Amino acid sequence: MEKIEINGIELAYERRGKGAPLVLLHGFPLDHHAWDKIVPLLENTFELIVPDLRGFGESTTMDSPYTMDDLATDIAGLLNHLGVDKTAIAGHSMGGYVALAFARLYPESMSGLGLVSSQVLADPPDRKEGRYKSAEDVAEKGIGGIVDAMTTKFTSDEQLQGFARKSMERQDPAAYIGALKAMAERLDSTPLLASMDFPVVVIHGNADALIPIDRAYEVKDVISHVHFVEIKNAGHLPMLEAAQETADSLKQLA
Ligand code: MLT
Repeated sequence: MEKIEINGIELAYERRGKGAPLVLLHGFPLDHHAWDKIVPLLENTFELIVPDLRGFGESTTMDSPYTMDDLATDIAGLLNHLGVDKTAIAGHSMGGYVALAFARLYPESMSGLGLVSSQVLADPPDRKEGRYKSAEDVAEKGIGGIVDAMTTKFTSDEQLQGFARKSMERQDPAAYIGALKAMAERLDSTPLLASMDFPVVVIHGNADALIPIDRAYEVKDVISHVHFVEIKNAGHLPMLEAAQETADSLKQLA
């Protein structure tokens, strides 16, 4: 992977393909390999920029707390480094929260938004509390508990469960802690939706056990021009469970 120094961290990324730029942001607690199946399906349509978010994969993190805005600012720094003025951004789950923060901070730099298995609402108080408790558990006991809990919730496909487990196991506990707190503090992006005058694609599995598909319907209800794709029998990993359908849908952002 290529690496740049930005905002006090080292940010790793891959750049592949030719065409309109598209940034692919992975979810929690994964890394850029979450997109491995669809990169080959998109690289003839897009110039793909695929980073590891702060702390995950080959990107480093810091001890002090950070927010979704900081993660979005890392991406803005990367785009600036690459000379990309305007781009579409697709985010899986937590990556969608980062894409939404980017859309709020840098609307002029955005040409399209893809939300894959994500949501626009902030955490309700009990979920927020649960995130802080999970962060404490990781600090005290390590990542095993979260990895076990999330593996079967990601997907019912046993092979992909193995892939997700391996991805989660190689992440730094500090990244779990930082991202859990950043997700807990994220803003409600619903007010932002109405101002989105670029293409928006929402892709969601109807069997998602982590973020129910109702969260995706809420986006559809607010943005009249949304390209909405419900993927039958997919769980929380449509880009792996239904790679072709997910890739074809993201081509709306070209
Ligand atoms: C993710 O897949 O990124 C997380 O499940 C998102 C979340 O916990 O809200």
